[in-house]
Amino acid sequence: MQIREAAAEDWPRIWPFWHRIVAAGETYTWDRDTSEEAARSLWMNPAKQVYVVEDETGAIVASAFVTPNYGGPAAGIANAGFMVDPDLAGRGIGRALAGHVVEAARGAGYRGMVFNAVVETNPAVKLWLSLGFEILGTVPEAFDHPRHGRVGLHVMYRAL
Ligand SMILES: CC(C)(COP(=O)(O)OP(=O)(O)OC[C@H]1O[C@@H](n2cnc3c(N)ncnc32)[C@H](O)[C@@H]1OP(=O)(O)O)[C@@H](O)C(=O)NCCC(=O)NCCS
Repeated sequence: MQIREAAAEDWPRIWPFWHRIVAAGETYTWDRDTSEEAARSLWMNPAKQVYVVEDETGAIVASAFVTPNYGGPAAGIANAGFMVDPDLAGRGIGRALAGHVVEAARGAGYRGMVFNAVVETNPAVKLWLSLGFEILGTVPEAFDHPRHGRVGLHVMYRAL
């Protein structure tokens, strides 16, 4: 498994799992029917540092981004997003990628990292807590989950 910075040509191999994750409507606050073009603008945005994980066959199995969460005097606080191919979830890829991204963000000079909208039913909450993030607060009943109904969105933070 190799974690590297993404190139524009990687997008067609990110899109299948990106689409599957967003269309499921359980973890991200993007429209479930986001088009490929809109998705590419969101994820491969020039303001973002984008990473991919390649397995030993060269297949792209996960991606992440880091970007300033705010502007101006608060641009030293990062935001990040993570997606692992659902067929390969639960095998440690997300934990490895998150560790890499946190280190890269620290190396780039960010002083902290914020997740603005972590769905409270997402198993990822446990992963973020184990990596030193804390829940600063929860926007109640903000997210219409297809299986759990209206659930909260956590704002999560850690210093870098
Ligand atoms: C969240 C996500 C990035 C985690 O990546 P992953 O490769 O599946 O996670 P890992 O195998 O590294 O698991 C890390 C930990 O997360 C937890 N976890 C993650 N996904 C889980 C799942 N589907 N079910 C149960 N636990 C899960 C486990 O506690 C695990 O702990 P462990 O390392 O002590 O076993 C990935 O599942 C994903 O892309 N999900 C959909 C998109 C998403 O939710 N992104 C994050 C938005 S905040």
